[in-house]
Amino acid sequence: MAIPPLSMKPTGWFQVAWSAEVGIGAVHRMKYFGRELIAWRSADGRIAVMDAYCEHLGAHLGYGGHVEGDRIVCPFHGWEWNRDGRNVCVPYENHPNKGRRIRSYPVVERNESIWMWHDIDGRAPYFDVPDVFTGFDDGRSAADYYPAYPDSTIHRERLELHPQYIMENGVDFAHFKYVHQVPITPVFTRQDFDEPVSYVDFTIAFDDTAAGEINSGVQAVNAGLGVAVTKSWGMIDNRTLSAVTPVDDETSDVRFSVWIGRPADERPTSEAKARQLAQAVIAQFEADIHIWAHQRYSDPPGLSQKEFEGFKALRHWAAQFYPTAP
Ligand code: FES
Ligand SMILES: [Fe+2]
Repeated sequence: MAIPPLSMKPTGWFQVAWSAEVGIGAVHRMKYFGRELIAWRSADGRIAVMDAYCEHLGAHLGYGGHVEGDRIVCPFHGWEWNRDGRNVCVPYENHPNKGRRIRSYPVVERNESIWMWHDIDGRAPYFDVPDVFTGFDDGRSAADYYPAYPDSTIHRERLELHPQYIMENGVDFAHFKYVHQVPITPVFTRQDFDEPVSYVDFTIAFDDTAAGEINSGVQAVNAGLGVAVTKSWGMIDNRTLSAVTPVDDETSDVRFSVWIGRPADERPTSEAKARQLAQAVIAQFEADIHIWAHQRYSDPPGLSQKEFEGFKALRHWAAQFYPTAP
């Protein structure tokens, strides 16, 4: 087992489910950051993410707990808890137990996905989850794309990889030719690692026998180590979201979602075509996963001269999300 010498408890936003997996009134079990967690959706549609164990006698709310209005009710003795984890009713007493609180987490729903904020010191979110459609300030919105979930997504569970690997992919110009089998070397036009939300843009120029010289590129927005969204231009219009969420100290879940642009003259077959195009994008991402899932973190890495600056900036940026030593 290759335990990366990097903390598996970084600070940031992490995808824990797709929205469609947690309907109104549903209680969804999950394990992240070494904790048993639940996500549940109240009658008014709001999502809550909290620790799974009832603060009364420790029943797991994901096994038989149910939602009533804006509360989750424990299956053991009927205590009721709100989305902030506060006890609001002990059914056989006149007052709730104000002293007990189930740990709850800031949560955001965006781009068909549910995100939880994780910070081992309990700090409030200090950056936002980027929006894969509006985050590029080009006037596009979700309506311009086919939905991603479920057909144009993948979820690979408990892989031995660290979130930082995926982020390093963004500055790794040399892997395209070998991992993605494309005869190109991207040219970086932006590597901005000044803030918790970082930006990487690159252009790709190549000769296509049919179409001649093609200019295209990718823009990426990375928010912490858990979220990367991309926009492609000059080729198939697509947006992607890659999300890596630590499960425990050895493994992570990887989710990847692809949205294909709707053509201006929509024909009945185009949704099936979009799914096909998305599969091609997913296949490229799977090729990366195949490397990451077996990679050993190299520190210090044996970089070439051309690689040095990008990796140095990225690793310096990544370090801010790790808990500082006690
Ligand atoms: S353990 Fe939850 S109400 Fe008793
Ligand atoms: Fe890649």
